[in-house]
Amino acid sequence: MILETRAISKRFGSVLALREVSMGVAAGEVVCVLGDNGAGKSTLIKILSGVHRHDSGELLVEGAAVSFSGPREALERGIATVYQDLAMIPLMSVWRNFFLGAEPRKSFGRFDVAAARRVARAELQAMGIDIRDVDQPVGTLSGGERQSVAIARAVHRGAKVLILDEPTSALGVKQAGVVLRYIARARDRGVAVVFITHNPHHAYPVGDRFLLLKRGAGLGVYGKADITREELTALMAGGAELKELEHELRRE
Ligand SMILES: Nc1ncnc2c1ncn2[C@@H]1O[C@H](COP(=O)(O)OP(=O)(O)OP(=O)(O)O)[C@@H](O)[C@H]1O
Ligand SMILES: [Mg+2]
Repeated sequence: MILETRAISKRFGSVLALREVSMGVAAGEVVCVLGDNGAGKSTLIKILSGVHRHDSGELLVEGAAVSFSGPREALERGIATVYQDLAMIPLMSVWRNFFLGAEPRKSFGRFDVAAARRVARAELQAMGIDIRDVDQPVGTLSGGERQSVAIARAVHRGAKVLILDEPTSALGVKQAGVVLRYIARARDRGVAVVFITHNPHHAYPVGDRFLLLKRGAGLGVYGKADITREELTALMAGGAELKELEHELRRE
């Protein structure tokens, strides 16, 4: 496992956001974290990415226990997180965003624009991302394209672990498909991917293993061979609760 948690717990005041959650992800594998609103998904990835510190349990990178002082330290260990706001500047071009904070320099210390354009274009192409014009402002890209650029950027910067918090939740069917394709590409390049979603239909096609969270507790990790899409959906939705709701909403 590149990244692993063992019985991790996290409390915010009176809320126990995570209760002894264990999970792990290996190189070239996609682990999906599923759960309803408030289940603790974001809290878990914030611990993985150094934003929050856990109260108890263990966080391990390549088998050794760590305690991150902040997100920078996690990033230095190769753990990159793509948040929903993406940390991109809409008015800046695709290639500028691609190199934001990590600009390639010529020997005299001047920013090498031609090289930056070339590398951004090549990297996007290598991920199969078809951006017509890397001079185009990021703000004019579609939501799916923006997510894809963020994923390509993290892979280019040498991420060993890529954590994605609900990258598909605001997207339509086709755009979500585009993002899922880049998740698979990153996986094929040997990146360990942690993919957070509350949509089992997005998780199932790309996931190797599935961690279900409910009110902060892990309901188990299922391998793809151990669970069908229908079972995953039923576990997510809480079959009994849906039946009850259906009954309640019925016209008299
Ligand atoms: N910084 C915080 N301070 C206080 N409570 C928090 C904080 N972050 C999360 N919580 C609480 O912890 C619980 C889990 O929240 P979390 O954001 O991890 O859920 P989630 O599974 O990501 O939900 P969603 O699907 O809505 O994004 C919630 O009850 C939330 O209110
Ligand atoms: Mg969340």
